[in-house]
Amino acid sequence: MQEKLLEIANEAERAIERADTVEAVEELRIRYLGKKGVLTQLLRGMGALPAAERPLVGKLANEVKVRLESLLADRASTLKKHAKARKLAAERIDVTLPGLRPFLGSLHPLTVVRTEIEEIFLGLGFQIVEGPEVELDYYNFEALNFPKDHPARDMQDTFFVSDEVLLRTHTSPVQVRTFEKTAPAVPVKIIAPGKVYREDDDATHSPMFHQVEGFAVDTHITLADLKGVLNSFVREMYGEKTRMRFRPSFFPFTEPSAEVDISCVICGGRGCRVCAHTGWLEILGAGMIHPRVLEVSGYDSEKVSGFAFGMGIERIAMLKYGVDNIRLFFDNDIRFLAQF
Ligand code: PHE
Repeated sequence: MQEKLLEIANEAERAIERADTVEAVEELRIRYLGKKGVLTQLLRGMGALPAAERPLVGKLANEVKVRLESLLADRASTLKKHAKARKLAAERIDVTLPGLRPFLGSLHPLTVVRTEIEEIFLGLGFQIVEGPEVELDYYNFEALNFPKDHPARDMQDTFFVSDEVLLRTHTSPVQVRTFEKTAPAVPVKIIAPGKVYREDDDATHSPMFHQVEGFAVDTHITLADLKGVLNSFVREMYGEKTRMRFRPSFFPFTEPSAEVDISCVICGGRGCRVCAHTGWLEILGAGMIHPRVLEVSGYDSEKVSGFAFGMGIERIAMLKYGVDNIRLFFDNDIRFLAQF
């Protein structure tokens, strides 16, 4: 019996040393000291011993029990300490690791281009003014000398809200709204950026797009002033080498009227796919403000004159960045927007 006891004690001691988790230690405690444990079973057999041997074996058994209990407790606490140390090591913050950069947005390309246009004209002494997008027929057409049956007034082009109210088809109504406030005072030098709407939808036309209107009224304003201002703009926007030309055109609210072209920014004027092999790109409409527009807004067209021009921001941006589909500006695809 004594031998058996010592054998169990040795075996248990080795097992406790090898136990590598707190759970394994607990299993060993149950295996040796539990109610049905090996040592417990053995002690139950003590009754079969001769009475003289019992105290000695009893004493030894108790010593083994106490020793195993303390070994188990030590091992469990060592393992707990190790586990805690491992956890701390895993959680330790490495201050030398590079941080996670927060995702930064960027300005929309149309905002970039609009700001650039604004800054060029602010530099030339123009002021920025805004007008309403929901506009009266009077400002969008009537006061701008569009006859009642002008094709631009057709439902095909204009989004009407009612007979008299519409979504402005261009920024030119801001001319009239401004003159009503400024007349008869001069000089007036204004740019008016903003959204405009036309029922048009293809690779280069969107039902909502942006324009910048520019206009100046003063005594002695001539076509030369218009050319000079636009030439400065074109050179700042597209580079010193860019050439500009005026082609005769027609707008009801300017006389004379012109379409303004610049030498192709892609091929430099030699001819390519973008300029349809002409070497030129149309960028805006312009002209001398029609005397009737000045008169309905309160100016004396005998005393003052003015020029006006209007450009599409999307078109300017498409040419500047070589974007071939206007929808890219409105799809809100980060892969596109992040490039500007
Ligand atoms: N409003 C005209 C358009 O949208 C452009 C323009 C503006 C032309 C000013 C002449 C003068 O097409």
